[in-house]
Amino acid sequence: MIIHASFFIQSVPPALWYTLDMSTGTAAAHPNIAFIKYWGNRDHQLRIPSNGSISMNLEGLETQTTVKFDNLLKEDMLVWDEKIQKGNALKRVATVLDKVRTLSGESRFAKVKSNNNFPAGTGIASSASAFAALSLAASCAAGLNLNEAELSRIARLGSGSACRSVPAGFVEWQAGYDDYNSYAYSIAPEYHWNLADCIAVISKSHKTTSSEEGHALADSSQFQAVRIDNAIERLDICRKAIIEKDFDAFAEVTEFDSNMMHAVIMTSNPPVIYWQPATLQVIHEVIKMRKNGVQACYTIDAGPNVHVICNDGESSQISAHLKNISGVQEVITARPGGPAKCINLP
Ligand code: PMV
Repeated sequence: MIIHASFFIQSVPPALWYTLDMSTGTAAAHPNIAFIKYWGNRDHQLRIPSNGSISMNLEGLETQTTVKFDNLLKEDMLVWDEKIQKGNALKRVATVLDKVRTLSGESRFAKVKSNNNFPAGTGIASSASAFAALSLAASCAAGLNLNEAELSRIARLGSGSACRSVPAGFVEWQAGYDDYNSYAYSIAPEYHWNLADCIAVISKSHKTTSSEEGHALADSSQFQAVRIDNAIERLDICRKAIIEKDFDAFAEVTEFDSNMMHAVIMTSNPPVIYWQPATLQVIHEVIKMRKNGVQACYTIDAGPNVHVICNDGESSQISAHLKNISGVQEVITARPGGPAKCINLP
């Protein structure tokens, strides 16, 4: 059974609560692809971004996470894809758990077990879905009845883009200026626009510069200030294009924003180049497709893989075309996805 967190808390009569193990929670969330990108922070610790961003959740791809608070544990424990994780991954998970403990009064450490349904090493960033699922699972386990904005804020503490995987469909993260007003909300539900994301997987290996390191470098590029200054305008254009389903306006602003982010990345100190030869090959093919009347545009996150956004009706033809490009290992197609959800209720 799949159900929203708030609905779960409201719909289960308190008399039944004692029959449930209220110290365990399981939740699932989708990763997302940003059309207006988040790059750089005003506050690195709280992950308050330098600019707002807009994204779409990716249906079919999912992280599922179970959190159990347990008084036998002497510290938090993270099991990711069946392997025990330590170091920075565990530290980021503990930050989210600490926030949930503070809000709920829960004092026990937790065991966190997390799995993706997309194979590790497809090059698809999983931190957004992972921290969105973790925030919801931990809140459910601690018996918290949080609204979407509250959950989104907690997810942001683990990974900025995770705050956008909490609400449904097409989502905007308002940058805000402090912990309270920096969170994401839905601007249109997943069924609003039949888009598809054909992800051309070019490399499956881990990126050499993490997005966390990249955010810290952003201000060292002279182009970052210009990118931030114009972000409000790009957000307005993108939001309007999504609401009006205006593909041409959407394609123009999405490609421009991705190019701007990579211009900042390539000119930071030290410079970072995420692209590979096949990345450029796909970019040229997408431009060619559009000249031939196909509605498709590209956007690239902090890695070499290219997300080709198109109308769902044309996605199989586009996917077949992308597969033929030398250097493209596989193409994964995802459609707009729903919100983070609590699952496995009795
Ligand atoms: O949430 P992070 O720290 O993994 O950063 C995500 C950065 C990009 O994926 C490149 C852009 C975005 O807005 O998702």
